[in-house]
Amino acid sequence: MAARKPLIAGNWKMFGRMSDLGEIAALDAAIGAVASKVDALICPPAAFISAAASLAKGKGVLIGAQDCSAVSADSARTGELSAGMLADAGAAYVIVGHSERRTQHGEGNETVRQKADAGLAAGLTPIVCVGETRAERDGGRVAEVIGAQVRESVPAGAGIVVAYEPVWCIGGDRTPTAAEIGEVHSLIRSVLSERFGAEANGIRVLYGGAVAPKNAAEIFAVEGVDGALVGRASLKAADFSAIILAHPAAS
Ligand code: 13P
Repeated sequence: MAARKPLIAGNWKMFGRMSDLGEIAALDAAIGAVASKVDALICPPAAFISAAASLAKGKGVLIGAQDCSAVSADSARTGELSAGMLADAGAAYVIVGHSERRTQHGEGNETVRQKADAGLAAGLTPIVCVGETRAERDGGRVAEVIGAQVRESVPAGAGIVVAYEPVWCIGGDRTPTAAEIGEVHSLIRSVLSERFGAEANGIRVLYGGAVAPKNAAEIFAVEGVDGALVGRASLKAADFSAIILAHPAAS
């Protein structure tokens, strides 16, 4: 099996202004030499995708979106952004099913799957997020919850990415243990193999939730972790480049 190229993605969420796009140029300067070995991606707020994509053109940083509409056709949907529009603005990836979308906007697996399909149809690479809450973990329901999310929200499609983001770690300062991360990644991989056979070997599975320069190397060393989805620590090039450079493929 060919090794999967690591992907280290930054999700800026609803943070930043146009003036912060300089972080993308700074990131490129810091990681330029490893861009052929690691895919580095920034997903800024949609308002800045076009400017970010112009700035990143020809550089070692990819640009993506944080969400897209489940509907592909141009239609009367005030405030919505189709995957085709995001691709047109310069996005190459789209995050779908982030736990903040699932909880704040009531998005279930079916909607997430439709969004991922819309992303694929527009030529974007969807990053489908899955993850259990603390209560689900404490209730012994990790396999059930993650299994259902992977079965119901991940479409078939070459190049798709899955991100395991335990909800109880997002925005905090703790991560699961390496063994816990490894267990869930192995579960995700087995569900993907069950569904897609050999094609699942090409699917990258990222870890997200409190990834920082201080814990990145330990997380990347976990079997089955193909990269990271990073929130807060992706906002500053100094932190995000330290995470990218901590990946063994970067050395
Ligand atoms: P933090 O890295 O800030 O914990 O956020 C993780 C996340 O939600 C990335 O999508």
